[in-house]
Amino acid sequence: MSLHSPVPKSMKAGKVKSTSDAYSGMHDEHGGGTLEARKEHCADMVNDYYDLVTDFYEYGWGRSFHFAVRRRGELLKRALARHERYLAERLELAPGMQVLDVGCGVGGPMREIAAFSGASIVGLNNNAYQLSKCETYNREAQLDELCSTLHGDFMAIPCEDESFDAVYQIEATCHAPDRTAAFKELARVLKPGGFFAGYEWCLTDAYDAGIIEHCEIKEGIIVGSGLPDLTHTSNVDNALKAAGFEILEARDRAPESDPPWYSALQGRDLSLSSIPRTRIGQRLTNMSVGLMEKMGLAPKGTKDVSNLLMGCGRSLVASGIRGLFTPMYFYIARKPE
Ligand SMILES: C[S@@+](CC[C@H](N)C(=O)[O-])C[C@H]1O[C@@H](n2cnc3c(N)ncnc32)[C@H](O)[C@@H]1O
Repeated sequence: MSLHSPVPKSMKAGKVKSTSDAYSGMHDEHGGGTLEARKEHCADMVNDYYDLVTDFYEYGWGRSFHFAVRRRGELLKRALARHERYLAERLELAPGMQVLDVGCGVGGPMREIAAFSGASIVGLNNNAYQLSKCETYNREAQLDELCSTLHGDFMAIPCEDESFDAVYQIEATCHAPDRTAAFKELARVLKPGGFFAGYEWCLTDAYDAGIIEHCEIKEGIIVGSGLPDLTHTSNVDNALKAAGFEILEARDRAPESDPPWYSALQGRDLSLSSIPRTRIGQRLTNMSVGLMEKMGLAPKGTKDVSNLLMGCGRSLVASGIRGLFTPMYFYIARKPE
């Protein structure tokens, strides 16, 4: 059972409400929260989002902030590790390789992949709160020799050209205001002949922009996940090619998952750690943080964050049931020699 408190600790208590309001404003069309505004202020919007939700994520999910291909009877934690190792295997990571983890969160995937492969991993992230946690966890896991951190934006990576033997990203470049520009930047820091692999959040062929319900589900995911927008899988392929990558393989891994990837959001793991993810667990957390807020034990705005994440969870489950969306569009691509 997770003992991590979901209350946001990334900022002074007095700032949680104003940060949450500023974030929500970016998605309020009537208040100027247009797609253009989200793209223009993307870095700040995404940073605010992760400042608000990181402690909630750790409380309900753990230290790897992504979905996974599931197997029956397998705990979420093990499925997450398997999903991460899959990238390491496909990238053929090995001791002595210098690898970039793009948008590393608090470093769950980085530590798993470093321990599994022996490669040296640099975790790039523009969220300082997550990076400070990541450094602490790396030390606690005694992996700080293999795992290091780099504060920066993946749209302008503070590294020399051709610094890395391999690059991967897990559910991070979905936050890019321009995917092609992001992929070009990743290609720049990758050595010629090197591989780039990732898991993307995408709309599938089943998504129909002419169906109101589909549009509402898409909006629910965008609002609740700190995204500027959501795009179709084909646009990810196009962006990879436009950035100069040669795609070796690209496919949605969601159909491999049994139970489906979104079952984790329904807390159906039959483990104590899944309780916060069950419907009752989510409601209890929501009521508790609301009560704590009223008693002055949690900052004002904490319940708003909980509401945001509950709404997002509902949209993700609805998207998964209808097959409109995948959080695991996998690709592996190569930078030509
Ligand atoms: C869904 S989380 C995934 C984190 C990590 N890959 C994992 O699976 O645990 C997305 C991550 O991307 C990072 N991120 C988003 N936009 C970024 C940017 N422009 N530059 C660097 N990191 C970014 C966020 O701070 C966050 O850590």
